[in-house]
Amino acid sequence: MSTWIAGLPEQARAVLDPVHYDYYAGGVGDEVVLGENEAAFRRLALLPRVLRGRSERDLSVELPGGRLDLPVLIAPTAFHRLAHPDGELATARAAAAAGTVLVSGVAATVAIGEVVAAARSAAADASVWFQLYPQPDEDVTACLVERAERAGCAALVVTADSPVFGRHRRDAEHGFHDLPAGLAAENMRDLPGAPPGGVRDIEMSPSVSWAHLDRLRELTSLPVWLKGVLHPADAVLAVEHGMAGIVVSNHGGRQSDLAPAAVEALPAVVDAVAGRVPVVLDGGVRSGGDVAVALALGAAAVGVGRPVLWGLAAAGEPGVARVLDVLRDEFDHVLALCGGRDPADLTRDLVVARGTGVF
Ligand code: FNR
Repeated sequence: MSTWIAGLPEQARAVLDPVHYDYYAGGVGDEVVLGENEAAFRRLALLPRVLRGRSERDLSVELPGGRLDLPVLIAPTAFHRLAHPDGELATARAAAAAGTVLVSGVAATVAIGEVVAAARSAAADASVWFQLYPQPDEDVTACLVERAERAGCAALVVTADSPVFGRHRRDAEHGFHDLPAGLAAENMRDLPGAPPGGVRDIEMSPSVSWAHLDRLRELTSLPVWLKGVLHPADAVLAVEHGMAGIVVSNHGGRQSDLAPAAVEALPAVVDAVAGRVPVVLDGGVRSGGDVAVALALGAAAVGVGRPVLWGLAAAGEPGVARVLDVLRDEFDHVLALCGGRDPADLTRDLVVARGTGVF
């Protein structure tokens, strides 16, 4: 792990309300998956190739919904104003200035229109994507999709791994259920069924199905990504249902505590998709080396969640900028060490399991 990023949670803990720190840091149940997401990267090694590099490396990747200057985007996480008063505005500006995408969540504490405007103030061509949970009331979903389009989002990310809320032990112990006064999930304001000026709850529903996804896709011409896929059969279904891309994710260990580490689920999904759409991985990425391993296993890019929240809490926009900068610099360095010229040079034959060598 990057030393600087490894120290970030402590920097964030020093400034955050302990209840909010635990909301960000925690996972579901016994937090097995939370730990495994990072530990699984430690169990993988990269075999370098020699004598085939280049002094200037091209780190960019092209995805449906935008070109990224580095293969790292900001995964959707809720409530950035719990971390810093500038909240999602700071995150959006830092992502745009770094030439990457912020996936802004439906549970953002700043409305999507303002988030996109902030990103564009930092880089005129910035892409912001909008994450949503398909709502059982499809009028609400339609309204959210329309708002994201009107705001100028370049893609939608539909999170499918949350038929019910994950049971977060730390939040239960603290009795943390509501945002402090003055903060709200601003995208949920003034929707059908909400009191005038009021905010609707984000609903999770086990009855949301592929049919909901089909109807959602018909509402928009934007590329739609499906987030929270772990089973290869679901990856195939996602392609068949017209998804533009797939995010392999266990929600950062916040949904099922029986899920495998995200990076361990990646290769089977990549194989099932067979190049038809790009696959992004999130969960446990803490260094440029982790980025390189994920790309070698077939990811087109990775998402980072908590490190961005820690950077935001510790230092606002410059803190997020530094997280992205460190990941870019480390990834570039590892790519050079592996004899890579661009991300496509990271191939699966480079990845080996540690501790299985035969001598
Ligand atoms: C999340 N994540 C998430 N995902 C999503 O689709 N919608 C959401 O509202 C949230 N909210 C959220 C809040 C917090 C505090 C965390 C930590 C995570 C999951 C997120 O997109 C991503 O899958 C993980 O954060 C990736 O794991 P790492 O990078 O945090 O290990």
